[in-house]
Amino acid sequence: MSLEPSAARKPNRRILIIDDNRAIHDDFHKILGAGAAGASGLDDAEAALFGTENTKAVSLGFEVDSALQGKEGLERVQRALQEGRPYAMAFVDMRMPPGWDGVETIARIWEAYPDLQVVVCTAYSDYSWDEMMAKIGQSDRLLILKKPFDVVEVLQMANALVAKWDLLQQTRTHVDELEGRIRERTQALESANTALQTEIADRNKMEIQLRHAQKMESIGQLAAGIAHEINTPTQYIGDNTRFVQESCRDLLALVGRLAPLTAPDAAPPDAAWLAQFREQVARADLDYLAVEMPKAIAQSLDGVARVAKIVRAMKEFSHPGTAEKTPIDLNHAIDSTLTVATTEWKYVADLVTEFDASLPPVSCLPGEFNQVILNLVVNACHAITDVVGAGGTSKGTITISTRRDGEWVEVRVRDSGTGIPEPARARIFDPFFTTKGVGKGTGQGLAIAHAVIVEKHGGTIHFETEMGQGTTFIIRIPLQPAAIARQAA
Ligand SMILES: Nc1ncnc2c1ncn2[C@@H]1O[C@H](COP(=O)(O)OP(=O)(O)OP(=O)(O)O)[C@@H](O)[C@H]1O
Ligand SMILES: [Mg+2]
Repeated sequence: MSLEPSAARKPNRRILIIDDNRAIHDDFHKILGAGAAGASGLDDAEAALFGTENTKAVSLGFEVDSALQGKEGLERVQRALQEGRPYAMAFVDMRMPPGWDGVETIARIWEAYPDLQVVVCTAYSDYSWDEMMAKIGQSDRLLILKKPFDVVEVLQMANALVAKWDLLQQTRTHVDELEGRIRERTQALESANTALQTEIADRNKMEIQLRHAQKMESIGQLAAGIAHEINTPTQYIGDNTRFVQESCRDLLALVGRLAPLTAPDAAPPDAAWLAQFREQVARADLDYLAVEMPKAIAQSLDGVARVAKIVRAMKEFSHPGTAEKTPIDLNHAIDSTLTVATTEWKYVADLVTEFDASLPPVSCLPGEFNQVILNLVVNACHAITDVVGAGGTSKGTITISTRRDGEWVEVRVRDSGTGIPEPARARIFDPFFTTKGVGKGTGQGLAIAHAVIVEKHGGTIHFETEMGQGTTFIIRIPLQPAAIARQAA
């Protein structure tokens, strides 16, 4: 059942009298009926209540209905409910032969409408209070009125109980309003939460795309250097192979002249043949070939090994398809990255590696870890170039070291560059913070390094710097990320 909102609702003063005695109904109507009480008990009642002389009729505004049996009373309660005009209270007689007695009537009415406030009217104790409670349950909606009635008592009860019914409805409407508001707030929070989740997912996707883009960009930038690195050995492998090819041709020609002499019926060579052969041997310069041919082959094999190393390093650097952490040899990973980036550092710095050979395998996203090392090395090269000048004759130094520190592995990238000026120090890990000119830096390198090391590997990245001396970036990665996370928690 829905009632009007409390503010707009008139107080409900509808009262139902259920009693088998018609005279009782008349009494109730006299006491409670609108205007009817003016000349009779009401004036006396009010005078008694308030101690004032009452001279005019007062409408109490009660709307009183009657039922002569409990069943009829229940029907009236149900009808009133259907019409949306429920009773606020009822006076119910205890003894109403031949139908339900008061207790049964009340129990049945409360099944249909539990809000009804009830006064049970009894001449003598048909039931004790305890018996009544046992039958209809503990209730704060029930009062007992002893016959014969006291007019003032009836009025007090009627006034108090309709007011109580009204307060109950107000409280309920208030609670409904509050619940409605809580529901609205909850819905607003839930949709804000969903929006936030979507935003986080979008951000993660963008971050992945950004990292991917940076990787593709650096592979593009590295490509020219890698081409150069591969080109040099390829050229001397070609030269050496051609030299060996020509030398073999000469040697085979010599051997070809000797071959007929080995036939069983061959005549020994005459003096003219020997003179010609000697001249041919001299032209072939066998002493020179004996030294240079093995050298050329060794150099070529070395060149092939260099090309193979670069190709392998490229493969290891990009690690296509390794989206899951795998235990890797960090020293080897750093080595591969330095190989791929050779042309980035070779003209500006000497590279020193101080690897801890006993480093255990570290669970890593190899492609992303390599990208971090590359970003740090490229930054180091730029900082050194700012000191030694581009294309200068002097070089700086980049030192990369690894070591185990308890349950952590530490990688240090030290450069002899400019150092990081004080105002920039707090911002270098911010996305898109750069002090470099257009085309040289976009300010993503360290933001990505931070995301990869801290978020993806549960590690830390920080730096030590001194102007004019250089900068050291220190990466720490936990050997057992889960254990470290538990400790932090
Ligand atoms: N080793 C370093 N020495 C001195 N300054 C550095 C060093 N590494 C980083 N910085 C400073 O931090 C800034 C941010 O570095 P970051 O790698 O994030 O971006 P970037 O190098 O400018 O551009 P990107 O890496 O996207 O090409 C740099 O512009 C530079 O001012
Ligand atoms: Mg950078």
